[in-house]
Amino acid sequence: MVLKKGNTSPLIDRPLLNVQQVREDFPVLAREVNGQPLVYLDNAASAQKPRQVVERLSRYYALEHANIHRGVHFLSQEATSAYEAARATVAKFINAAEPRECIFTRGTTEALNLVASSWGGANLQAGDEVLITQMEHHANIVPWQLLEQSHGIKLVVAPIDERGQLIVEEWEKLLSPRTKLVAFCHASNALGTINPAKALIKKAHERGIPVLLDGAQSSAHFKIDVQELDCDWFALSGHKLFGPTGIGVLYGKADLLNAMPPYQGGGDMIEKVSFSGTTFRHIPERFEAGTPHIAGAIGLAAAMDYIESIGHKPIEAQERDLLHYATERMREIEGLKIYGEAENKVAVISFDIPGIHPNDIGTMLDADGIAVRTGHHCTMPLWERFGLTGTTRASFAFYNTRGEIDSFVESLTKIKRMFLGA
Ligand code: ALA
Repeated sequence: MVLKKGNTSPLIDRPLLNVQQVREDFPVLAREVNGQPLVYLDNAASAQKPRQVVERLSRYYALEHANIHRGVHFLSQEATSAYEAARATVAKFINAAEPRECIFTRGTTEALNLVASSWGGANLQAGDEVLITQMEHHANIVPWQLLEQSHGIKLVVAPIDERGQLIVEEWEKLLSPRTKLVAFCHASNALGTINPAKALIKKAHERGIPVLLDGAQSSAHFKIDVQELDCDWFALSGHKLFGPTGIGVLYGKADLLNAMPPYQGGGDMIEKVSFSGTTFRHIPERFEAGTPHIAGAIGLAAAMDYIESIGHKPIEAQERDLLHYATERMREIEGLKIYGEAENKVAVISFDIPGIHPNDIGTMLDADGIAVRTGHHCTMPLWERFGLTGTTRASFAFYNTRGEIDSFVESLTKIKRMFLGA
């Protein structure tokens, strides 16, 4: 979505989304917090769950549960079918060529660690470089630092500009014959910046370098097409997509995944085990050792079905409107500085009011029933770049409203007056 400074007429392409009706799907949105209607603006940390997901989970646990891939009995077969149908739903949601390219993980963090540990552990050597960006989440920094320690690789970091956009020419200059992997966030959790993923992937591929895309913050906001992007791996988290916690997906091109060594050993990922040696199954089981989060996968599929039932276009239009409106309204507060003014961003606004600690802002907003995140947002090196230790962050979902933004701005204005007297 494109954010233009000064654009105050975003109603032109207003959506076909009935927000009030959609809100009724999310029981939590009717709650009061501290005597005020809840205004939930912490969606980048974790999104709320619609009834459709909660009811699907409840039905699974109440009526359909058994272990999968292991039983000849009815319930096991039924649970296996539902789990594998969930994989097919994920594949369709991100347009993977085949369901087996979608591995269920605990979340994006585990998916990134899986690639670092399995592919990185087998393919990277001392002196090899992994290129990331300055706006990465800790989950896309620390696994590579572990490989620095264990394998002697080098982590190379591409800079961003004042508006929070990747400086693509600088990034390109850092691609060298030593670069063995490129990894970056599709959208930044802290700044909202959407990276030009397709173009970056093309440039990396021209040099024969595989690309890992962190989709934790993009997949809830716009349509993902992994074949169109041509990324080699793509990671996402269920709980940011209105689905359960503890479930996520690692997508990978089939040949690449099948060539990777197992990440964890245990039941279901083996072909044959003996004390003299073990052979492993192909994907997806190869990377799903042990009893997986069956309910989580089924719940994630219900969340994806829910998103599809609303439609990506109406969701994008609603969020674009919220982003424009909130940005304009927040700019009315003198002294408030927004971090992350990329042309292309998701509905995430990080900001600072000099003289007031983000934790104080967050606590005072909470007193008015408004939930935001404060602190470093798991991107400490990013804030170092801006000379800060953190910010306050409001992050929106399609069920938020302009009225909620008005309450948020009113509360912020009051907080500023209390702390700074103006
Ligand atoms: N990564 C999550 C966030 O951005 C938790 O808040």
